[in-house]
Amino acid sequence: MQAKIQFSGSRKDCLSVAFMFEGMMRPFEAMPESFTGKKLESFYLPEHKVIVVGLGKEEELKIDYYRRAAAKAVKLAMAYKIAEVQFPDKGLDGNSFGKKEFLALAEGSLLANYSFDKYKAEDAKPSRVKEIILPETAKGFRESIESAAVVCENVSMVRDLVSENSDIVTPDFIDGFSRKIAKECGLKIEVLEKAELEKLGMNCLLAVGRASTQSPRLIMLEYNGDPSSNEKIMLAGKGMCFDSGGLDIKPRDSMLEMRMDMAGAATVLAIMKSASELKLKKNIVGIMAVTENLVDAKSYRPKDIIKSYSGKTVENMDTDAEGRLVLADALNYGAKKFGPKLIMEFSTLTGSIVSTFGSHVAGLFANSAAKEKGFEKKMSEAGLETYERVWELPLFEEYLDEVSGERSDFRSLGKTRYNGAIFGAAFLSKFVEDKPFLHIDIAGTAHIEEAKDYMPKDGTGFGVRLAVEFLKKI
Ligand code: BES
Ligand code: ZN
Ligand code: ZN
Repeated sequence: MQAKIQFSGSRKDCLSVAFMFEGMMRPFEAMPESFTGKKLESFYLPEHKVIVVGLGKEEELKIDYYRRAAAKAVKLAMAYKIAEVQFPDKGLDGNSFGKKEFLALAEGSLLANYSFDKYKAEDAKPSRVKEIILPETAKGFRESIESAAVVCENVSMVRDLVSENSDIVTPDFIDGFSRKIAKECGLKIEVLEKAELEKLGMNCLLAVGRASTQSPRLIMLEYNGDPSSNEKIMLAGKGMCFDSGGLDIKPRDSMLEMRMDMAGAATVLAIMKSASELKLKKNIVGIMAVTENLVDAKSYRPKDIIKSYSGKTVENMDTDAEGRLVLADALNYGAKKFGPKLIMEFSTLTGSIVSTFGSHVAGLFANSAAKEKGFEKKMSEAGLETYERVWELPLFEEYLDEVSGERSDFRSLGKTRYNGAIFGAAFLSKFVEDKPFLHIDIAGTAHIEEAKDYMPKDGTGFGVRLAVEFLKKI
């Protein structure tokens, strides 16, 4: 259960939070002199039930430090089983907080108050904070804060889906789960299964899913928040419930976390849910390409040439590069069916993006139609604001040319083992019918192996806050 956000009122069982800039006077005598208020250093005074969190040098302050500081306080409250956490109305410099600070404190608290613990014994589950108490002065921003809480709850949904076993979060499961969300949120839903996919010629999606005992799915959700317009924004997501690599099987260590390979689809589902709950004035369609990449006598094979839904043929250079294949069909189908003004696609597409950015930043790619409209700039801004940061990599023509095939129209990889993330993006961009296209490679950010600040270990839900903020900007 998510903590409730309350405005004002002091409580009994409550951890109070105070902030301190580096070098300021220590607010409590009892604090050691060694505590100087360095960035995100904290000190707990149990007799006062106060945590003092350092914010570093005043002139170097970033809004994200408030998310991280709030997370520190909530984690401490969880460890000490304190049910409520209360924030001040100003920093110790005397300056009152405004909307940005309050939003950051609320988000940091809610995002930190999470753990994937359903398989742990009741008495071993970490305790959760029940109430986050913001001061009276935050009341003026109530609506924004409550919207942020809605989005944070949907972030938790993605975390649960990404962290859950792959034998539970299967294509059948995602189908049922999406129908449930669609019903609750009043979204239109259509799900295509094997027979329909065959009729349509979605042979890339079918090829990847051939070794699975469950039918692949193309799941489409629609939200109409602006009936006065026929413009549509399309979201797409990679939903690989498990990625063993297929016949080009992954080594043990690389396979270990591959239940997370459906994070793109979960992100799309959470964005659709958020759009409807926040009543965004936009028309949005979300498409999820869902299957699993397994090993079986029926497995698709390296060097098979597959005729994609677009009619173009693809030489499959590696069965572990399966994400781009399922997305090629989903993107092309969606681009043709919905004629969107923008396609925004999330996928845990490449190990290459993990090597490049680690867990702090996602790869952003924009085709020229998207750049003409400045969509990539708005996405980067949304990244800085939410601190779900993206960094753009190029789709120069040399990259675009290199995915041309010799025996087929396209090959699924570049010609060397370098620049893997760029070739993945270049390949996808061939299937969007020249619609403005943003590809966000979340392989390094959707799942992390060590918890940090307000991000838990395993599924992080990265991308949901980013996309919601971006949608508000366009
Ligand atoms: N699902 C993986 C990408 C991935 C790697 C996600 C690490 C999260 C963490 C993807 O399907 C994959 O296997 N990509 C390969 C492509 C290669 C065979 C060309 C990669 O990037 O290593
Ligand atoms: Zn793979
Ligand atoms: Zn994959």
